[in-house]
Amino acid sequence: MENKVYIFDTTLRDGEQVPGCQLNTEEKVIIAKELEKLGVDVIEAGFPISSPGDFNSVIEISKAVKNPIVCALTRAKKEDIEAAVESLKYAKKKRIHTGIGSSDTHIQYKFKSTREKVLEQAVWAVKYAKKFVDDVEFYAEDAGRADKEFLAKMVEEIIKAGATVVNIPDTTGYCLPQDFGGKIKYLFENVKNIHKAIISVHCHNDLGMATANTISGLINGARQAEVTVNGIGERAGNTSLEEITMILKTHKKLDLETGINTKKIYDISQKVSKMMNMPIQKNKAIVGANAFAHSSGIHQDGIIKQRENYEIIDPKDVGIDKSKIVLTARSGRAALKYRLRNLKYEIKQEHLNIIYKKFLNLADEKKEINDQDLRILMIQNNL
Ligand code: KIV
Ligand code: ZN
Repeated sequence: MENKVYIFDTTLRDGEQVPGCQLNTEEKVIIAKELEKLGVDVIEAGFPISSPGDFNSVIEISKAVKNPIVCALTRAKKEDIEAAVESLKYAKKKRIHTGIGSSDTHIQYKFKSTREKVLEQAVWAVKYAKKFVDDVEFYAEDAGRADKEFLAKMVEEIIKAGATVVNIPDTTGYCLPQDFGGKIKYLFENVKNIHKAIISVHCHNDLGMATANTISGLINGARQAEVTVNGIGERAGNTSLEEITMILKTHKKLDLETGINTKKIYDISQKVSKMMNMPIQKNKAIVGANAFAHSSGIHQDGIIKQRENYEIIDPKDVGIDKSKIVLTARSGRAALKYRLRNLKYEIKQEHLNIIYKKFLNLADEKKEINDQDLRILMIQNNL
């Protein structure tokens, strides 16, 4: 099986559904160009039938990028598919992403329908989209909670109808990693034509397991991961692009790779956060302000001796200049000496002992000691 994992970015569609984070077309085009530089394979540019703004964004993104596939979302409806076709007319590489609910909950309560009718509509939608584009992705919404036998039947029929990619979403973020991975494995073992399509995983983070579920899906054969920058998305968000990319880069034994230029991760993360007015939590993996910051004495001493003692990722690999040694009342002499050396102060051990005591008193008062505080401490102590 191929070891390339396709990165399908849905920051501008699922990510942008966050209340208060909407972007205008111009802003979306800026992000789309950054996503292209980052090396994503697919940009889900919007849901064209949903509003004139979204429709227009798909048009402009299609004009603006050339390498990634531009994808437009639809329901399994004629008018949605036709709007998507129209919005993708300038795309160099285009994909329609259509689909319908696959769980009994969705079938009974959302569509008030039956499995048979939903299956029929799903097949119809793929065939209809295929009349206009070669590349059709189908999403089996709420697949995480769907009956696996019915899901397998749906996947088989959808591939027969011409789907090139089949998206298995854990729409409600319900699954445990072994169950989600198990579902993907079941599909590989029970869907005869499964090798004719790429299986995609699209996970939500309601229980904090979106990344784990996506990795589990990939381990079990999925080869496309649907992600957003900073993991933004409705409710608790989507699987984060930076986490998936760096997990695959860090764990070589998985033998899976992406085409992402990881050195651009921090930059796009900051841009998306600022443009969407969505601050990044400080302890967010990979891109949070504290992801490469060390503040306790033992860790600081270890990291100064050898970065790998407490870091599994080189910050340069994600575009961050270097790790941070933060000075607080928990810091030790090694950290103080290191930070003073960065300010060009070479200090003898006896002087370090004196200044360290004063530093601790100050750090008890102030939460964090900055470079200016250090300079003042040195001047006050004639050092
Ligand atoms: O979470 C989900 O199921 C979705 C689909 C529309 C792909 O976002
Ligand atoms: Zn989603």
